[in-house]
Amino acid sequence: MSIILKTPDEIEKMRVACRLASEVLDYITPFVKPGVTTGELDKLCHDYMVDVQGCIPAPLNYAPSGYKPYPKSICTSVNHQICHGVPGERQLKNGDIVNLDITTIKNGYHGDTSRMFLVGDVSIQARRLCDITFECLWRGIAQVRPGAHLGDIGHAVQQHAEAAGFSVVREFCGHGIGARFHEDPQVVHYGDPGTGVALRPNMIFTIEPMINAGKAAIRTLADGWTVVTKDHSLSAQWEHTVLVTDSGYEILTVSSGMRQPPEWIK
Ligand code: MF3
Ligand code: CO
Ligand code: CO
Repeated sequence: MSIILKTPDEIEKMRVACRLASEVLDYITPFVKPGVTTGELDKLCHDYMVDVQGCIPAPLNYAPSGYKPYPKSICTSVNHQICHGVPGERQLKNGDIVNLDITTIKNGYHGDTSRMFLVGDVSIQARRLCDITFECLWRGIAQVRPGAHLGDIGHAVQQHAEAAGFSVVREFCGHGIGARFHEDPQVVHYGDPGTGVALRPNMIFTIEPMINAGKAAIRTLADGWTVVTKDHSLSAQWEHTVLVTDSGYEILTVSSGMRQPPEWIK
């Protein structure tokens, strides 16, 4: 249990894996329409990763202790599903919101990113949840620099989510990432400034707030993976993989189709 600082060679490999993960989301964007099934989105992304990018989809058969192997290549979390939604027969319909979470492995290194997609015309409330959650991600990212603490990130996310009347999921968090999918440290999305691990250059971790429109409590479905809000309220999530640089941060999960940072980021 320790944080692995990445070498320049590892950082370059992480840039590649992370860019590819973001490019999968660019690729799938035009397919996210009413009528498509989450299983079809999974198949399209799987084939793109394997056949076009020469990547391994990290979720497929991923089996952390206490879990059965994950059966698909991406996660598709619709509406009140928080994370780890397992793709299947479900058809997306007008008004749904869906998180697509992509993790690639390229040359032994992982890239992890997710975005929210709005299917057709969504309610003002659903749109606001997705936008606030995106801002939470970026408020967290804006804290990242050497000497800052993980608690600064968590606090920034929590403060923004709760000020909007939303709640932060506690059971799942961001994570170190590199040659392994989930490394130390755990990057929780709540907390107090100045607490927790101090950030150092060449750390790489994800920030991936899960924000619920209602209460924070979760439930896991019988498939062993899909996590939903206990109160069935909507949930949203955005994720980037981030490098701590000498002066601040570098977003590694970048691509031409990514949503641009909020205006207030320089
Ligand atoms: N990509 C998720 C994360 O951000 C983890 C998914 S694990 C899986 O950490 F097995 F469900 F794919
Ligand atoms: Co992640
Ligand atoms: Co992810």
